[in-house]
Amino acid sequence: MLTNTLSYNQFMNPVVLATPISGIRLVNSWESKISLKNQIFLNIGQPDLPTPDYIKEAVVQALEKDKTRYTNILGEKYLREAIVEFQKESHNLSYSSNEVLVTAGGQSAIFAVLNSILSPKDNIVIPFPSYPPYLNVVKYCRSKIIPLETKGEEDFDINIEKLEVILKSNPVKVFLLISPSNPTGTVIPLRTLEKIVDLSIKYNFLIISDEIYSDIIFDKLPYTSIASFPEARERTIIIQSFSKMLSMCGFRIGYILAPTPIIDQVKVIHHTMTICANNLAQYAAYKALEDKKQLKNSILHLVHTYQDRRNLCMGILKESASFSVSKPRGAFYLFPKADSINMIEFCQWLKYNYGVTTVPGSYFSLEQIKEHHQYLRICYTAEKEKLMLGMNKIVSAIEAFKKK
Ligand SMILES: Cc1ncc(COP(=O)(O)O)c(C=O)c1O
Repeated sequence: MLTNTLSYNQFMNPVVLATPISGIRLVNSWESKISLKNQIFLNIGQPDLPTPDYIKEAVVQALEKDKTRYTNILGEKYLREAIVEFQKESHNLSYSSNEVLVTAGGQSAIFAVLNSILSPKDNIVIPFPSYPPYLNVVKYCRSKIIPLETKGEEDFDINIEKLEVILKSNPVKVFLLISPSNPTGTVIPLRTLEKIVDLSIKYNFLIISDEIYSDIIFDKLPYTSIASFPEARERTIIIQSFSKMLSMCGFRIGYILAPTPIIDQVKVIHHTMTICANNLAQYAAYKALEDKKQLKNSILHLVHTYQDRRNLCMGILKESASFSVSKPRGAFYLFPKADSINMIEFCQWLKYNYGVTTVPGSYFSLEQIKEHHQYLRICYTAEKEKLMLGMNKIVSAIEAFKKK
């Protein structure tokens, strides 16, 4: 076998070298003494429920209909029109089909949107903990993150006073809102959204609203998109996806909702990245929305499943003297805290000795926000028996770890 003699880092972009692979995947490579078949993975935010049959069948139909060519850059008009109708009916949002850009999942929407807006040295306010890819993309743009710490004691709500302190002393171009949140499951309350809207007008910034979990809401809580405030609509860019609400992660299909002048710029970057979203997946997404009865039933089933599991996991964590946790109202994540525990060490130890994979909270935050280093993220996307077993192991492991 030939060995390489070159030091490849000399050729790589230093910014790329300085941006790590997502910690959510990294934990998969950690060692465990438990055999793979007996391990429990609670680290990847991907619904374990299968894609509904009627959507799978639509992929076959798409092939039969020869949906194998490039589509319109914005995405097929029939899908954009179906998205407009769905968002009107489910979240009272009013968009036209020219204000929709179909993307290769929420992830490519994030990349295209941030690259369309951020120039070097521009400031973006990101509440932490946050979804890590945003940090990487901001770094690629050579822009500056101004962190806003959110606290477990405040249910990870956005502290408006702290936000205004930042806005008073820094020119801010964008504020990032992720609600329901990954990794905390927090749904930002209406009163906070109203204040963010007021601030966005007072300090003239754009809002990127990542709403990919907007249809996974528990306890019959109403969900309000910040773009449904008339004053906010013109300054909001919504990131959306089919991945989570319909177990369609592998389809790689999402979309952006924004005023046309923004879409016209973002579409250029998205076209440069991928030309267009996958044609077969666009057809399947269209069929997913077209059959309203099956759509409603599929989402309801998913929400009930994860609400039950949330309750189950909360019950187990509440019994533990070591963990405290705030009640998530959406998505499928728990973000519990164990005081004074180094969670990177604990999560590695947990995986090695008990075979349960979770993600340390620090992977969703910054080095300087020490408070978040005592948290871990658990995805309750494993079937009930396995999940119960995994949760009980986490709770026993923390006691054993403390006695070490
Ligand atoms: C908050 C958030 N935004 C965007 C994404 C990207 O999802 P996808 O590209 O599958 O739509 C994820 C995935 O976990 C996420 O949690």
